[in-house]
Amino acid sequence: MKHFFLFLVFVLVVVGVLHLLSGNDYPIIPADPDHTGITDAAVCMECHGPEEEKAMKGTHPPKFKCFKCHDAENK
Ligand code: HEC
Ligand code: HEC
Repeated sequence: MKHFFLFLVFVLVVVGVLHLLSGNDYPIIPADPDHTGITDAAVCMECHGPEEEKAMKGTHPPKFKCFKCHDAENK
């Protein structure tokens, strides 16, 4: 029986760690007029593309399909 509880604790720890790892810490798309009703990533790049005013950092992950990672606050 003791082993069963140890196993249970182990499973809970693994599930907890996986949950933390999967937690998305992607900044949410602000719900302001700049961001309302955009469905095409090309539009995002007009402001967030390289050289633009709000350019993404150089460390930004692959720059396609914005909505795969960034949730819109106003969706
Ligand atoms: C008209 C210019 C413009 C367009 C188009 C635009 N953005 Fe933005 N975006 C901004 C500005 C300015 C800010 C920063 C000010 C703010 O937080 O509202 C910002 C902030 C953000 C942030 C938050 C960054 C942070 O540090 O929290 C994300 C994420 C973002 N934009 C994603 C997108 C995506 C995805 C699209 C396309 C669907 C997009 N933006 C289109 C101007 C734009
Ligand atoms: C693979 C997931 C992923 C995709 C796809 C993605 N982003 Fe991001 N984005 C992130 C993460 C993670 C951060 C936070 C990076 C950090 O804080 O260093 C971020 C941060 C940002 C920021 C805040 C400024 C910055 O560079 O940290 C903006 C603006 C942004 N993303 C816009 C976009 C736009 C526009 C697109 C589509 C062209 C896009 N993202 C696609 C994951 C993604």
